[in-house]
Amino acid sequence: MSKFYLTTPIYYVNDVPHIGHSYTTVAADVLARYHRLKGEDVFFLTGTDEHGQKILRVAQDREETPETLVNRVVERFQKVWQRLNISNDDFIRTTQPRHTRRVQLIFQKLYEKGDIYLGDYEGWYCVPCESYWIESELVANNCPECHRPVERLREKNYFFRLSKYKDGVLKHVEAHPDFIQPESRKNELCSRLRAGVEDISISRQGLPWGIPVPPVSTEQGQTIYVWIDALFNYITALGYDDEAERFQHYWPCDVHLIGKEILWFHGAIWPALLMALELPPPRRIFAHGWWTIEGRKISKSLGNVIDPLTITEQYGVDAYRYFLLREVPFGLDGNFSYTALANRINSDLGNDLGNLLLRTLTMIEKYYGGHVPQPESTPGTLDEDKPLMEKVKTLKTLVEKEMESLQFSKALEAIWDSIAQANRYIEESKPWVLAREDRQKLSVKLYTLAETLRLIAMYIAPFMPHTAHEIQQQLGISVEEKEQRLSYRWGLLKPSTRVAKGKALFPRIELSPQPSPKVNLPTV
Ligand code: MSP
Repeated sequence: MSKFYLTTPIYYVNDVPHIGHSYTTVAADVLARYHRLKGEDVFFLTGTDEHGQKILRVAQDREETPETLVNRVVERFQKVWQRLNISNDDFIRTTQPRHTRRVQLIFQKLYEKGDIYLGDYEGWYCVPCESYWIESELVANNCPECHRPVERLREKNYFFRLSKYKDGVLKHVEAHPDFIQPESRKNELCSRLRAGVEDISISRQGLPWGIPVPPVSTEQGQTIYVWIDALFNYITALGYDDEAERFQHYWPCDVHLIGKEILWFHGAIWPALLMALELPPPRRIFAHGWWTIEGRKISKSLGNVIDPLTITEQYGVDAYRYFLLREVPFGLDGNFSYTALANRINSDLGNDLGNLLLRTLTMIEKYYGGHVPQPESTPGTLDEDKPLMEKVKTLKTLVEKEMESLQFSKALEAIWDSIAQANRYIEESKPWVLAREDRQKLSVKLYTLAETLRLIAMYIAPFMPHTAHEIQQQLGISVEEKEQRLSYRWGLLKPSTRVAKGKALFPRIELSPQPSPKVNLPTV
């Protein structure tokens, strides 16, 4: 059984999760579910990044301890992931002893190897991004990433010899075209690597909220830089390296899913750290785009932050998951609007998928007393039945191809092509006429439609697990997850199965005059 290890970034717990965080996590969940259905041994990791100056400051502003803050906010993340039906296999918090202990061991190892050394840092620091910047990188004296003011730092720090590994990283990126995706981001990364890289500071002096640097020298009071602490989560969660069995089984990671703004950390610093540890790099890092809301950057001060709990309460979990992955090609930036969400629900989910199920089951009830008919001739022998059958049969290859390249929206497009074809098949074959004139053909049409729906449910299962289950229930079949992967073959739906037409899958959402619902981000 082949293994598949995938991760999301670990999110900062200075604030509660919003649509952006949920995007990466939902995408990872879809991928994890897809690979499980293929029968692979999947390990899906997510978690929270709980140290650093940003979190400490928020806690201080709230006059509480950072421990209290992180313990409260992490619950919120876990609640949101539960609501969104996220099937992660582990959840790592960087404050857990299993992580802190291992990060210290790694630090010590790299120090003893000579890849970490003590030096003096002088430069700039952006607290919101937790990033060091040199003077020439600033834009109008602000952080080049988030454009907020930076702070001057002058302190003793430990440094990591990034410069030593730069050529090795560049070579690896160039030699493995799929390592960094999408292509455009890979090119940006390569240019930055070619432009030259200096050693990086990897500790902070006198910052009390972080993992203490182990006593490798006489220098006191240093904590490990939050980004270094965070990146190691991908291996500490697997037990590296004091309980290495799980690590040996799952490493290298098959895909790190991240947002585009943290590609430098993942595509340059992380592989260099791994090289220093003499570990293989991950197989793939995919940096997706950013969501804006109604055309504007997501920001608390603009008051446009979307809370996944509120929005799923109003629109449904599966509709939200579908929308996130269908609306924007993975890798590009996207814009969220309530109108676009409602349109997807009404058209793709309600009209196309929901109606296909409703019409099919209504006809099976009406003409066959609610039992899937035994086709009275072999489906697919008549020319008129071929296009739909062929389309559904080729879906497996199409979906596989798109899922392998993480093109979720294209995979969904392919599935919806089959749904559209099935709806056309109803229009063209007019079962209501056949009911009077040709019962033999009618049995073939209705069997073909029900079997198409069985397969559609399987293809949408990674994206919309509840909906897939609901369709299966209405079709009268109960499918264990492990059986599902065996049932991509055409013709497995048993004639005479008793269907159970249920409620509409996606009731219509009224668009106007409804204003965008006011969504206030609950504060931490
Ligand atoms: N803690 C670091 C990551 C450490 S990983 C070793 C961090 N955390 S974060 O809370 O700021 O989360 C950033 C991630 O959240 C992005 O990389 C992306 O996955 C997701 N998103 C946050 N806002 C987003 C959008 N507006 N749009 C899409 N995704 C974004 O960085």
